[in-house]
Amino acid sequence: MARIRSIFACTACGYQNPRWLGRCPDCGEWNTLVEEVPAVRGASSAGAGGGPVPVPLTLDAVSPTAEERVSTGESELDRVLGGGLVPGSVVLVGGEPGIGKSTLLLQVLLSLQRRGIATLLVSGEESPGQVKMRARRLEGPIDGLRLISETRCGPVVACLEEHDPAVCVVDSVQTLWSEDISSAPGSVSQIREVTGQLLRVAKGRGITLLLVGHVTKSGDLAGPRVLEHMVDAVLSFEGDRSRPYRLLRGVKNRFGSTNEVGVFQMTGQGLVGVSDPSALFLEEGSESPGAAVLAAVEGTRCLLAEVQALVVPSGLTMPRRVTRGVDGNRLAMVAAVLTRRAGLRLGESDIFVNVAGGLSVEDPAADLPLALAVASAQRDRPLGRVAAFGELSLTGQARYVAHGDARVQELARHGFERVLAPRRNVEELRERRAVPEGVTMEPISNIQDVVRELIG
Ligand code: TYD
Ligand code: MG
Repeated sequence: MARIRSIFACTACGYQNPRWLGRCPDCGEWNTLVEEVPAVRGASSAGAGGGPVPVPLTLDAVSPTAEERVSTGESELDRVLGGGLVPGSVVLVGGEPGIGKSTLLLQVLLSLQRRGIATLLVSGEESPGQVKMRARRLEGPIDGLRLISETRCGPVVACLEEHDPAVCVVDSVQTLWSEDISSAPGSVSQIREVTGQLLRVAKGRGITLLLVGHVTKSGDLAGPRVLEHMVDAVLSFEGDRSRPYRLLRGVKNRFGSTNEVGVFQMTGQGLVGVSDPSALFLEEGSESPGAAVLAAVEGTRCLLAEVQALVVPSGLTMPRRVTRGVDGNRLAMVAAVLTRRAGLRLGESDIFVNVAGGLSVEDPAADLPLALAVASAQRDRPLGRVAAFGELSLTGQARYVAHGDARVQELARHGFERVLAPRRNVEELRERRAVPEGVTMEPISNIQDVVRELIG
């Protein structure tokens, strides 16, 4: 009998090599290659091996699938999914331990069950008794939910085939293991194999699958990137465990946009969706030097938050640029523009930037408030209660951004009376009579003028 040769697979990207290497040549990570025994497969299942040859269709002969969505019962989760669960889809929910993944998915199952949708919970981490204790804390009736406590993949697949639920939660994919593979549960090849088996039965029967995935210390989903490629959507549950609120973000979504953010609050009765997150993020506002309010459009809504900057003399030859909630390159660019165009001396200073409330902003409209916060911190002068939005070009010009009306409306709703925006945005809003009552719009042409006027 031929000896089964092991292979070495990268836990970060899934790259495979016959020999161990200290550094993955594919993704460049160090010490990520682990030994695996490859799966023994039967005869090839498609193509030349057997079965009829598929007949290609012309597109006009295809009837479009109506996009049907099933609400999860949690509107913030529905928002991130793009309007609810797509029947038959596979969604991976990742996040650090204790963030609330099991709680959220249990709430979803209970809500679906109450509406008469057949569900199944596969728990590899908790006993039925533990699940019951958790369910008791949540609101509403809890009976009718079916669950199994199982870590072997074979019986799980058999159970799915026999009971045929409409929605199944697997908590977590790292605890399941397949007998076909000798490597340990949670290893790259186990995760790939287990997910593959679950996917086959789910896709075959139209079962909606919600998989819980653990994340590594660096915040990536444990297991190879291939896991992300196998599923239809990847959601990431984030937050500071010392604070009650949690952000749910779309990392990948075949059925919707990925920049939607869902906001939840962990309470004694489980997770509750936060309908007005701006109020929550602004709670931490201070109006001190180095603070400015941003209005960022993430997905379909506008969120307000305070961006805080601290500028201090640095003893280092390479001063530090530390950010939380905004991209570090964005800060480097804004700092360079401030130095060159507005004459601010930042080259010998450490700069720290934080977006209050744990929000992370990708919207380029955060450039202007970011620049104002840094300038205000450097001069140690407060800006007062002022909000801003707009992109900055390398020449220091304030550039037009989309969704100006959504931004001013949200700002007006939270009582902001002064709003700085690129000149073209202000003109557009005035033309369309979209400036809310009580709001004064201040048109900005370039960063040097506004720094001079506001901060001196
Ligand atoms: P959990 O859903 O177990 O997290 P994960 O599955 O991501 O590891 O959430 C665990 C935390 O949430 C735990 O610290 C207890 C807390 N919690 C509440 O505060 N209220 C609740 O109603 C529930 C069910 C949990
Ligand atoms: Mg859990």
